[in-house]
Parts: sequence; C-alpha cells; structure tokens
Amino acid sequence: MNILGIESSCDETSVAIISDDVLKTNLVSSQDFHKKFGGVVPELSSRAHLQQIVPLLRLALKESKLELNEIDLISATAGPGLIGAILVGFIFGKGLSYSLKKPFIPVNHIEGHIYSGFLMKEKPEFPFLVLVVSGGHTLLLVVESFSRIKKLGSTIDDAAGEAFDKVAKMLGLGYPGGPKIQEYAEKSNGSKIVFPIAQLKNEFDFSFSGLKTSVLRFIQKEYGESSAIPEKELFDIAEAFQKTAVKSLTRNVERAINKYQLNSISLVGGVAANSFLRDEFTLLGKKYNKKVVIPDLQFCGDNAAMIANRAKNLFDLGETFDLDYEPFPSFFSKYFQ
Ligand code: KG4
Ligand code: ZN
Repeated sequence: MNILGIESSCDETSVAIISDDVLKTNLVSSQDFHKKFGGVVPELSSRAHLQQIVPLLRLALKESKLELNEIDLISATAGPGLIGAILVGFIFGKGLSYSLKKPFIPVNHIEGHIYSGFLMKEKPEFPFLVLVVSGGHTLLLVVESFSRIKKLGSTIDDAAGEAFDKVAKMLGLGYPGGPKIQEYAEKSNGSKIVFPIAQLKNEFDFSFSGLKTSVLRFIQKEYGESSAIPEKELFDIAEAFQKTAVKSLTRNVERAINKYQLNSISLVGGVAANSFLRDEFTLLGKKYNKKVVIPDLQFCGDNAAMIANRAKNLFDLGETFDLDYEPFPSFFSKYFQ
C-alpha cells in the first residue's frame, strides 16, 4: 500500500510517501524567509505552502518511482496549527482523494509527533513514555497503544520551543532560536549563572515563563538598557538557560519513569533536535534501563513522514473519514484520554 502524507501546519511544507512500511521519500521545504520578521507570518506561510505543494508532490512521486494513480491512501495534517496554513495541505489532500477516488485520513499533528519513533528501525515498545517538545506544545504522555494515549502533564504557559525562541530573541540571536541557543551554549565553558526551575502543583506539568523572565531580569540587571552583551556572556546565558530548560523537562520524565510501568521512553518534536536534551534523555534511559527512541533529526521538526506513518495506524484501526470532515486548529483526536 502506498500512503501519501502531507504536512502544512506551520512553516514547513512537506510531502512523504510510505510504501508497505518503507519510507520512500520525506521532502521538507522550510520557509526560511520568516527569519527577517522574527517569527512566522501566517499569511505568508499559507502562500508559500500554495507555491510549494504541487512541485513537492511531483518530486516525491518521482523519487518514489510512482505514478499519482498508484497512491492508495491520502493523509494530511488536520490541526493543531495555523488554520490558513493547515487548509492548504488539507484541501489539497481532500482534492486528491476526491479525484483519485482513494480514502482520505486527517491526522492530528501532535499524534504525528507522538508516534514518530515508529519511523525508526528500533521502535518504541508499548506502553511507552513520550515527551513531546515542539514550538507549540510540551506534553508528557503515556502511550498504551495506537489508540490510547494518557496525558500526564503539559505546559501551563509557554511551550519549550517557544521559550528557546523567545530567549534567543532577547539575546539578539534571531529566529528560529532553538538551534542558535544550542550553538551558543556549546561554545560556553560552563557558566556559573543559575536560573530557577518552577515547582508546580501537578508534578508532571511544565512552566517556562518564569525561566524566561529570570533570563530577562538577568540581562536587565547586568546590562541595563544597553543591548551590547559581550559574546562570551551570550554563550554563558545560552548555556545556563538551556541547562535549566532541559533539567525541567528531564526532571518530569524521571518522575514518570519512577511512577509508571514503561517499556520504553521516546523524545519527539522540534526541540528533540537539541543535542543536550537528546544526551540527557538518553542518560535517563540508561540509568533506568529503559529502551530509548529518539527519532533522527529529519523526523523531529515538522515533516510529512510522521503524518503518513500515523495515517497507516489509523487505517489499520479501521478509521474512515468522510470528505466533508472539517479541520479545527485545536483538533485533538478521541484517542487522547
Ligand atoms: O515541531 P516543530 O518543528 O514545529 C512545531 O510543531 O511547533 O518545532 C519547532 C521548534 C522551534 O521552537 C525551534 O526553535 C525548536 O523546535 N528547535 C530547537 C532546536 N531545533 C529546533 N530547540 C532547541 N534546540 C534545537 N536544536
Ligand atoms: Zn510540530
């Protein structure tokens, strides 16, 4: 069976094809031009998806050595995300389904991330703990099967990626900030700056707004209105922030490992590209003798392989959808407990 996946929820247009469990292609076109605006401009994002979607599909078919009429199942992200951006890929997928007379499966973007470990050779084993860290979400979940996800905690304010992006902006490092923070932190020789970690009522929840404010206060106190922070200090602030943000994530993971019966642990989403977080997460797995699954970088950021991969689960579960299905920006599937 040839499954087409389409992703267009934010600033990546992506088309992927999975044929009989083998990923044939996973093309991602990133909209770098948002950098000059310091963040994603929704209207421009939708327009760029419109420009990219057909060439990407053509290329994906060519790379997979398939004709369009050999596609058996079409899937697209249905939310959450920027509604104008989602609609481009979603309506394109629906249109293909209508004209090719092939089934269409809408996929929840977060579920795409959650199950992205299954794109790896070494797959998660149920029940597994998953930490979802992206630009829009921070979630700690126990995944019991392909149709049962239990939520332990989530962020009560900013998402992890959002915090990386905002701190990078404060330091004048540009957008997207996550990779920049990592780059700068790696250049530090280990800073003495200490930022606090929030203590919350639900031990599995996360909070990043206090950390963000602490970084801002530190900059204001040390440098006042002057925006000229010496480079070495930028490295140290980035390192101290990254260390604290990662600790606040792994602390909850460790708590969950101690409380739940788990066969593996998985780290997914855009922030899962962070090498310090990957290392700390892997160390936790080793400490508690749990199988660790962290997807390759191409499956951490937004991509259509994870959408086609999740569509396959839903198809196998016998899910069918009418073409009059409407996406919602906050769409969460019935599989979330
Ligand atoms: O999953 P994703 O591609 O898009 C959403 O669904 O939100 O995540 C994007 C987020 C951005 O906030 C970006 O700064 C962050 O992932 N990110 C990183 C790294 N690479 C991307 N954060 C920390 N370290 C990285 N290396
Ligand atoms: Zn995402």
